[in-house]
Amino acid sequence: MRVFITGGSGLIGSAVVAELLGHGHTVLALARSGSSATALETAGAETIRGDLADLGTLRAGAAKADGVIHLAFANDFSSPAALAAAVAEEGAALGALGEELTGSGRPLITVSGTPYVPGRASTEADPLPTGGPVGGRGRAVMAVLGLASRGVRSTAVRMPRTVHNEGTGGFAGMLTNIARQARVSGYPGDGAQRWPAVHALDAAVLFRLALELAPAGTSWHAVADEGDAVRDIAAVIGRRLGLPVEAVPQETYGPLGPIFAADQPSSSTHTRQALGWEPTHPSLLEDLENIQP
Ligand SMILES: NC(=O)c1ccc[n+]([C@@H]2O[C@H](COP(=O)([O-])OP(=O)(O)OC[C@H]3O[C@@H](n4cnc5c(N)ncnc54)[C@H](OP(=O)(O)O)[C@@H]3O)[C@@H](O)[C@H]2O)c1
Repeated sequence: MRVFITGGSGLIGSAVVAELLGHGHTVLALARSGSSATALETAGAETIRGDLADLGTLRAGAAKADGVIHLAFANDFSSPAALAAAVAEEGAALGALGEELTGSGRPLITVSGTPYVPGRASTEADPLPTGGPVGGRGRAVMAVLGLASRGVRSTAVRMPRTVHNEGTGGFAGMLTNIARQARVSGYPGDGAQRWPAVHALDAAVLFRLALELAPAGTSWHAVADEGDAVRDIAAVIGRRLGLPVEAVPQETYGPLGPIFAADQPSSSTHTRQALGWEPTHPSLLEDLENIQP
């Protein structure tokens, strides 16, 4: 297939581009800067210049493709207004991509997070949260899945809290950055809360399988580690950085504190059985051994 991708220069997207090219697909990638275009072209993709706000460019990219994978997100958590703008930008972008594909039967794969269900591992059947500061992202994903009834083979690939590669990425990557600055490898609460994780190269395989096989309106979990205790994550970070490992108040993490403190394991049993996906790359705790002081 010829696949149009947004976010193809990111941590997950660059792995997806390599996975697609390695399995006989061709890639047309949205690139918002010269350096991103160079990286994508070096990887073997064709590029189209523009950003997520250029709805005409998104429509043109989708029109030229047999399927679309959407991964770009501004990730601007600097203020509530900036986050709201990023969420709104993504929602409009998905709306434009969906309109272009309506009635075509072509796949539109979007990214999301695994849901959080108190007391048990979340499954593919659990609904996404649609309230709170990033609730708009959940609503945008629900709108994409709703396009199944309008001739789009729409699917959502849900990511765990940490998508990692070479010891960086996701929540664990944020803990590492905070530890470097604070000179202590901290964790909120008693650290027994669990976060799920996946290696970016394994997640990339699931995006390809969803593109090739997933029925319209379905959701999938790219979960390799169902839940790593946060104090175990902090312990590896502390050892690699030569820093003490300590429980710290939840407030240390600002608005992320309650999210960091929550036990949020997630399962991928259905995804593995239905799509034949099997992660093969290092677990999060193994991959964190790549952190350099
Ligand atoms: N990493 C994780 O642990 C994780 C966990 C859960 C969900 N996710 C979600 O997965 C998706 C990809 O994550 P990632 O970790 O790969 O992110 P990333 O490494 O930060 O990459 C973001 C990508 O989006 C592009 N981008 C950002 N804003 C854009 C804009 N306004 N217009 C066009 N392109 C734009 C970036 O382009 P440039 O390269 O030009 O900057 C880059 O290709 C995001 O939706 C993220 O929220 C990630």
